[in-house]
Amino acid sequence: MCGIVGYIGQRNATEILIEGLRKLEYRGYDSAGIALLNTNGVHVFKEKGRIAALEELLDETANGTIGIGHTRWATHGEPSRLNAHPHQSASERFTLVHNGVIENYEQLKKAELSDVDFVSETDTEVVVKLIEKKVQGGKSVEEAFRSTLEQLHGSYAIAMLDADNSDVIYVGKNKSPLLVGLGEGFNVVASDAMAMLQVTNQFVELMDQEIVLVTRDFCRIKKLDGTVVERKPFTAELDASDIEKGTYPNYMLKEIDEQPAVVRRIISEYRDEDGVIKVEDSVRQAIKEADRLYIIAAGTSYHAGLVGKQLFEHIAGIPTEVHIASEFSYNMPLVSKKPLFIFISQSGETADSRAVLVHVKKLGFKTLTVTNVPGSTLSREADHTLLLYAGPEIAVASTKAYTAQIAVLAITAADAAVERGLEVKMDLTQELSIVANAMQTLVDEKEKIEALATNYLQTTRNAFYIGRAVDYYVCLEAALKLKEISYVQAEGFAGGELKHGTIALIEKDTPVIAIATQSHVNGAIRSNVKEVVARGAKALIVSMEGLESEDDQLVLPEVNDLLTPLVSVIPLQLLAYYTALHRGCDVDKPRNLAKSVTVE
Ligand code: F6R
Repeated sequence: MCGIVGYIGQRNATEILIEGLRKLEYRGYDSAGIALLNTNGVHVFKEKGRIAALEELLDETANGTIGIGHTRWATHGEPSRLNAHPHQSASERFTLVHNGVIENYEQLKKAELSDVDFVSETDTEVVVKLIEKKVQGGKSVEEAFRSTLEQLHGSYAIAMLDADNSDVIYVGKNKSPLLVGLGEGFNVVASDAMAMLQVTNQFVELMDQEIVLVTRDFCRIKKLDGTVVERKPFTAELDASDIEKGTYPNYMLKEIDEQPAVVRRIISEYRDEDGVIKVEDSVRQAIKEADRLYIIAAGTSYHAGLVGKQLFEHIAGIPTEVHIASEFSYNMPLVSKKPLFIFISQSGETADSRAVLVHVKKLGFKTLTVTNVPGSTLSREADHTLLLYAGPEIAVASTKAYTAQIAVLAITAADAAVERGLEVKMDLTQELSIVANAMQTLVDEKEKIEALATNYLQTTRNAFYIGRAVDYYVCLEAALKLKEISYVQAEGFAGGELKHGTIALIEKDTPVIAIATQSHVNGAIRSNVKEVVARGAKALIVSMEGLESEDDQLVLPEVNDLLTPLVSVIPLQLLAYYTALHRGCDVDKPRNLAKSVTVE
């Protein structure tokens, strides 16, 4: 949430900052800004809206070999030019960008800055004004920077320019991601390595409560108490082409199409020399020692977690609970004696999940993160990590990460079953290969699915998805996809639950999309479809080979009945995609959202 970039070197920073911000736009896109320092002082350009709107403002004063930039997802104050970053101190000596939330900004304002005027509604402005006040009180800039950060409660990744010193960017971090990238005669700062791959693949990771003085040739990391920290750089393994759209019109379609390949990659990443797919020993041991699994996640990852529960219970016989991260922290259930907490998070940065991780670690419980991003906060802080190998997911709506999460959970569950001496009634490598082929068949049926989107969802105000058993969990995900990118009011329901109230909403031509991939509930879900059709609904039935009937609009290739979500979700992702596209929505960057939700 919010993206930060910085550059200090020999070139004009403008282009590098703008290019970096474009790569970070997935983190927030309601306003953007850059600041450049040159011999005439600091020049700030900021605008409400996308990076393109910012670019229109840039003129010949947009130059300087040192600069910072920001793309915003509003937390304090509406999206506007005034609230956009960078923010400046009263004298304009200090210019700062911030990602995160300063929880005590109002207290700081009252206690320390009651005589200072504020121009924005942001928490960020307090930080830059407090730094200036401390400098005016006699502290060096570094001391003022460090001691201000010491006073902040909450999360921050910060980069700051000092108009009186064109040789350093001041950087600090707590709970929000930030990296320093290293080059020859230049250095950069970024919320995500992706933003600066254009200039370097060497990065130094920052830990919480560290600051860095980034100069052209050096980066000195210090703790907030001033102690110097030595840390080696790492090479970002990302391939620049992974983060390009290529010939696709947008990232979402590319990422939907990548799903068969992702499942195949997962099979090969988790296969040992004997061809057996398994997880690493330490993870196996952690699951073996647990008497109950607690899956913690948000949004789409939570929906993958629901499928994960089914897999752990049915394949490995391990009792599993799934909790929404933001609820768990404030409404913690009774926990078993030896729990294992499993955090599912594409980004590995979700603040709601991290809050639970921090809490359960304090209680002494063991933790495992399932994430797409190696080195992410949730990965670093958990005892164990399992990677998704899905490649960067850039569209805000998650697609390939969801299926990758389910595939990795299936492998973990099968491995746990073997460890427990249970008979696994399927060859998972083979079943996942069948899944990958079935996915391919569906992504190749785009025209048919596009026609269904036009027919069922193009003009509707609302839609319902119904399913039973594991299909119900897929309905929740399908409804979320449709809502978030097409803004159609959509809900996923357990087929049997509709008649307990919600059926009142069904009227003539209300689209009801039913998923029918489970033999033991096939009759029941079809009865539920009849109930809604009798009340005027326009039903679209997605079934599976072997369970189909002549009324079904889409029949999925047959796969193992525990793995059907991996396949049934594909046409539903595509339905959401085409609905959004035909309604003229920005598929990759839906309104009000951001990819990496780093605020609680
Ligand atoms: C929806 C979506 C979100 C995320 C949620 C958790 O398409 O992407 O619901 O799933 O914000 O994010 P991660 O998985 O990064 O923890």
